[in-house]
Amino acid sequence: MSRSIIGLFDSGVGGLTVAEEVFRTLPGQRVIYFGDTLNVPYGGRPVAELISFAERIIRFLFEQGAGYIIFACNTSSAVSLQLLRERFDVPMIGLIEPGAAEAVRLSVNGNIGVIATEATVAAGAYSAAIKRINPRVRVCSRAAPRLVPLVEAGELDSPRVEQALREYLGSMRDEGIDTLILGCSHYPFLRPAIERILGSGVTLVDPAAATVDAAARDMSRRGLLTGNPGRSIVLSPGHRYFVSGEAAGFVSVAKKFLGREPAPVTEICLLR
Ligand code: DGL
Repeated sequence: MSRSIIGLFDSGVGGLTVAEEVFRTLPGQRVIYFGDTLNVPYGGRPVAELISFAERIIRFLFEQGAGYIIFACNTSSAVSLQLLRERFDVPMIGLIEPGAAEAVRLSVNGNIGVIATEATVAAGAYSAAIKRINPRVRVCSRAAPRLVPLVEAGELDSPRVEQALREYLGSMRDEGIDTLILGCSHYPFLRPAIERILGSGVTLVDPAAATVDAAARDMSRRGLLTGNPGRSIVLSPGHRYFVSGEAAGFVSVAKKFLGREPAPVTEICLLR
């Protein structure tokens, strides 16, 4: 079996922001997506549980033919990537290191903000990754637990989203950040609202682009790329989507965000 298929997973629809980046950068590559919608949100869950979810999902993606795993979830990247790399003989990449590097590259005043889930902030993942690159950079992290449920409910720019964002981002502005990492793959869907609240003085970093670029280089080195990355447009290379919860909810939110249906979506009971 060819091992060029990319397995991507998240707690829900958030990973679609990463999948979109894969489709743009590697249009010939097949993708299998897993959204753990039965267990979303991940952000407030214990580390041991998050590791066990990720382990089962990766095993499933591998059984479905994936030969390269992208953690399209910052929370799982923060708490389980390092450990699971040792448990599986399949190459994996997460969002944290590439996202941190991109933020350090873009920040002019060395003052970087991070919004993320509680688990990602508690793990100190972005802060540690940034400090490894440049210990002098100041990092201001804020957990934003109300955002994922709003995005999963299909809310992008509602008064509730606006209110939550104002609360989470107010302190960031006061801290003088010039760069903000969107440290949860659900948040890029809120980019217009975030930009409106922060204004033009803050550069937003979605770690997906840097992560997919790094994945493309890594896959190329390993001989796992099919076709010409970024050059040829291959239509419908047969992507597949799986969710652990109800497919209809995932499809309708995905359709709202992406303007098209991610089909086919299969419900699969994996985690019980
Ligand atoms: N989208 C995921 C992340 O990037 C998980 C969010 C959640 O389920 O709390 O962190």
